[in-house]
Amino acid sequence: MNVTDGKLDILLLGSGGREHALLLKLVESPRAGRIWVAPGNGGMDELATPVTLDQDDPAAVASFATDKGIGLVVIGPEAPLVAGVADAVRAAGIPVFGPSGRAAQMEGSKRFAKDVMARAGVPTAAWRSFTDEASCLAYVRSLGGPCVVKADGLAAGKGVIVAQDVDEALDGVRECFSGGFGEAGRTVVVEELLQGPECSLLVLTDGTTLVPLATSQDHKRALDGDKGPNTGGMGVYSPVPILLPGELEQMTQMMQATVDQLRRDGITYSGCLYGGFMLTEDGPKVLEYNARFGDPETQVVLPRMRGDLVEAFLACDDGTLDRVDIGWGDDWAVSVVLTSAGYPGSYERGKPISGIEDAETLDGVTVYHAGTRRDGGGRIVTDGGRVLDVTAVAGSFEDARNLAYQACDRISFEGKTYRHDIGIKAIKGRTSL
Ligand code: AMP
Ligand code: GLY
Repeated sequence: MNVTDGKLDILLLGSGGREHALLLKLVESPRAGRIWVAPGNGGMDELATPVTLDQDDPAAVASFATDKGIGLVVIGPEAPLVAGVADAVRAAGIPVFGPSGRAAQMEGSKRFAKDVMARAGVPTAAWRSFTDEASCLAYVRSLGGPCVVKADGLAAGKGVIVAQDVDEALDGVRECFSGGFGEAGRTVVVEELLQGPECSLLVLTDGTTLVPLATSQDHKRALDGDKGPNTGGMGVYSPVPILLPGELEQMTQMMQATVDQLRRDGITYSGCLYGGFMLTEDGPKVLEYNARFGDPETQVVLPRMRGDLVEAFLACDDGTLDRVDIGWGDDWAVSVVLTSAGYPGSYERGKPISGIEDAETLDGVTVYHAGTRRDGGGRIVTDGGRVLDVTAVAGSFEDARNLAYQACDRISFEGKTYRHDIGIKAIKGRTSL
């Protein structure tokens, strides 16, 4: 392992806005040495060395990390976690930020997560799981009304059908079992449809100690007014101002109970656990868990965090998180996602982007790259559906929101598309949600 003056070389896996935000926070740490990124994007190569590596291949990642003397591997997305990349890196004796393949089943299998929650006594939507289509269809018919149909496995955010009536739910069940979501749809979870505003809570954990990071709220639908298809996330803000007294404590306790239950089951969950909650009239209930930082939630949570991310990540791995200090500014962050026209459907790539530097001259604005790359001439061009996360941090929610939209206006590329109502729900308050 290369350790010079206490500095460690780091390998970061992933290519989204989340990984750009992680990179900017990692380089702030006095412990960060050289950083490699696999594969990275157009905004990350100034701070990190891009490397071609199959990020979902445990042996390939472990052998690269060993060869380069890496002192910390940070895993951004869910697929390498579920594939067991963290296990292989740990087995090679290298510290890694991210849960083991078994622990990542909290995201990799909705049935697994529901079962852990049931045994931990964590409030969540009532549910049943099915492995054959006929009994699943019969159950949905017996419910006779709205419900939520979920493919059990990873489906890139697409395997959830929020059905307003029985016919929609039956279609969802058929889609899952017809192979529409591949292996992920072989088991199907049918849930009670919950009502209320959503709130995400990211926590760091070493399997025992839990450090809650800030709350945030994503906007999943493609169009203004929460219309249109579901996406990976179109914009986000932090913290969530509509929480009632006690709700943050309740959510934190539920996540602690979940991590404790996993430990009793012989699974040490270390890394980031992402709790997706619905704030129902009966209190917060868990909608889902993810085994990683949220995207775009990370882009509004990390800029507000005070503390050394390298130290915190190492402490998650070696079980010493109780010794780590993390603080928060009393500022607000809003991030608006600029997408390629057509997203989440098909879209074009390779459109030159201008105005990023101009946007970043605004005090408090950071533009995280997501779907971008450099073309042969070194210009930044679009290379994905979610292209840039335009993020502003300011002393008030309104200032952060106005600043983010001002920055969006300064950026141009053909097909630039975004929602204009990010944060409106927070301003209107809970009754309007
Ligand atoms: P998930 O991937 O499980 O978070 O689901 C994606 C989205 O579907 C969530 O962010 C919610 O908007 C919605 N959703 C999931 N489960 C439920 C539920 N039980 N009741 C209402 N909406 C849900
Ligand atoms: N923003 C939703 C997610 O990261 O899954």
